[in-house]
Amino acid sequence: MNKAVRTVLAQRSPMRDIVPVTVGLAAGGLLFREHRIRAKTERLGAATLETLLNAIDANDAVTGAHVRRVATYALILGEAAGFDERTLHSIERVALFHDVGKLHEALTDIFHDPSKLTPEERRAVMTHPQRGAEVLAPLSAFYPDLGKGVAAHHERWDGTGYPRGIRGKRIPLTARVVAIADSFDAITHRRRYSRARSFSEAVQAITEGRATQFDPELVDLFLTPAVLRKIERAMRQANAPQRKRRTRRHGEKKPGPDITFRWRQRSNGPRAQDPRP
Ligand SMILES: [Fe+2]
Repeated sequence: MNKAVRTVLAQRSPMRDIVPVTVGLAAGGLLFREHRIRAKTERLGAATLETLLNAIDANDAVTGAHVRRVATYALILGEAAGFDERTLHSIERVALFHDVGKLHEALTDIFHDPSKLTPEERRAVMTHPQRGAEVLAPLSAFYPDLGKGVAAHHERWDGTGYPRGIRGKRIPLTARVVAIADSFDAITHRRRYSRARSFSEAVQAITEGRATQFDPELVDLFLTPAVLRKIERAMRQANAPQRKRRTRRHGEKKPGPDITFRWRQRSNGPRAQDPRP
């Protein structure tokens, strides 16, 4: 080391060593704080949505179970399509809240009345996507796609759906995915005027809706053997608790958990494993 360098080093003030360390610590502290605030905000978002889901359950357990199954099927399809995590979260939220508009006071009685719908009641039922979007409007600053997806879940690929009659890719992607999952679940469960149909009958109905009711590319993906296998397995799993509840009346096993609400794991930290099949 030459003399000039030694002189400079000897003249270094202790402050010159301390300042970079202090700045580094402050930056690290800020980053840590930002990370904690973001994690807390995510947990708050998850808790808010979960509270809303609990409210749906409390009001109408049948709809609560339906939306969970729809979310499961929609995510199977979305993951098969290779959508990124952000899009999958969006699909999941639209699936879980697509029918929240049915809980509106003006529609509750109509949805629970087993008699045939009058034309006026049918028109009222058709307002549920828009009513749902209105319920979710306060969340639009955080989840801008949620209301739009919910409002469009009864639109059809050929433009004959409701409420706006939009067609093709003008229908939000989330709504196109959820429409397939929603119809599949509606067909495989008993409704007001129809019995629950089998897995293969539901697959046939989805096939027939290709390019009329549903996005043809998404239908093609839905019909691949790998996706159908996962959907069938999820359907069996979703129906399993009902069978267990029946046996419980005879003093046997307790019911198993319903389909796992995935962001419960996410909000508590990293996912240990994917709970879905
Ligand atoms: Fe609906």
